[in-house]
Amino acid sequence: MSDSKHLNKITVPVIQAMKSGSQKIAVLTAYDTLMAQMLDETGMDIILVGDSAGMVIAGYDKTLSVTMEMMLYHTRSVTRGVKRALVVADMPFLSYQPAMETAIKNAGRMLQEAGAEAVKIEGGKPVAGTIERIVSLGIPVMGHLGLTPQSINKFGSYRLTGDNEESARQLMDDALILQNSGAFSIVLEKIPAQLAKEITQKLDIPTIGIGAGSHCDGQVLVTHDMLGIFDKFQPKFVRRYAELGQTMREAFKHYLEDVKGGRFPSVDESY
Ligand code: KIV
Repeated sequence: MSDSKHLNKITVPVIQAMKSGSQKIAVLTAYDTLMAQMLDETGMDIILVGDSAGMVIAGYDKTLSVTMEMMLYHTRSVTRGVKRALVVADMPFLSYQPAMETAIKNAGRMLQEAGAEAVKIEGGKPVAGTIERIVSLGIPVMGHLGLTPQSINKFGSYRLTGDNEESARQLMDDALILQNSGAFSIVLEKIPAQLAKEITQKLDIPTIGIGAGSHCDGQVLVTHDMLGIFDKFQPKFVRRYAELGQTMREAFKHYLEDVKGGRFPSVDESY
C-alpha cells in the first residue's frame, strides 16, 4: 500500500528485526482510542490491549473475569486510534484453553472483528500446541511467561517466579518451547533479571520484560501504572513517569468548588 500513513508501519517482522538491532522495543498498554492515539503519535512500537483492562478499567481485582466481548470492545477502540504501532490483543482467560477450535476462533475474532495484528497468550508447554496451530493459520502470537495473572489462583499471589533452580529451568524450557511453537516474541513478567538475561540471550525472538530487568529486548508497563492513575498496587518495577491521579483529583475538587460556589461557568463560558 502506498498510503503515507502506512510508511514506517511496525509489523511483526519489524519487531523481530529489532532483536538484532541496537534499538529496544517500547511497549505500553491501551484500552481506549484517545490513549492509543497518544501512544501511537509518541512512536510506541507495540500497543498492548492487555486484559489488565479488567483491573484498571472495569474494577475487577483479578483479570479472570475479563471476557472476549470486553477485549473485542477495547481492541476495536484502540485500533481506531492507531496508524503505526503494532497492536497486540490479550486473549482472556478461557478464550483459548477449552479447545483448539475455540482458541482459533477467538484469536481470529481479535483480528477480523477488532483489527488487532497479533494476540498474546499466557503460559508455557500446556499452550504450545495451541500457539503452533494459531500461528500456522497466519495469526501472530506473543507468549507470556513468569507471573501469568490468569493463573493467580494457582500461584496464590503475584510473586516472583524463576527464583529457584527448578522454576528457572522450567521458564527457560518454556521459553524455548514457545519459540519453537512459532511465537514471535515473549513477555517475561516478574522474574530475576539474570534469568531474563539468559533467556534473552538464548532466544532468537525478542523478549519484552516487565519486572524482568534491563537485559530484555524490550519493556512493557501498564500505562495507568506509569501515569500514576492506578495505585491499588505499586510493584517496585513500575516507574511512575507522572502523578496524574493526584492532578486529576485536584482538578475534580477545583471544579466541584467552582460549581458549588457559582464560579463556573463564567460569562465568557456562556452564550
Ligand atoms: O494485561 C496486561 O496488561 C499484560 C502486561 C502487564 C504484559 O499482560
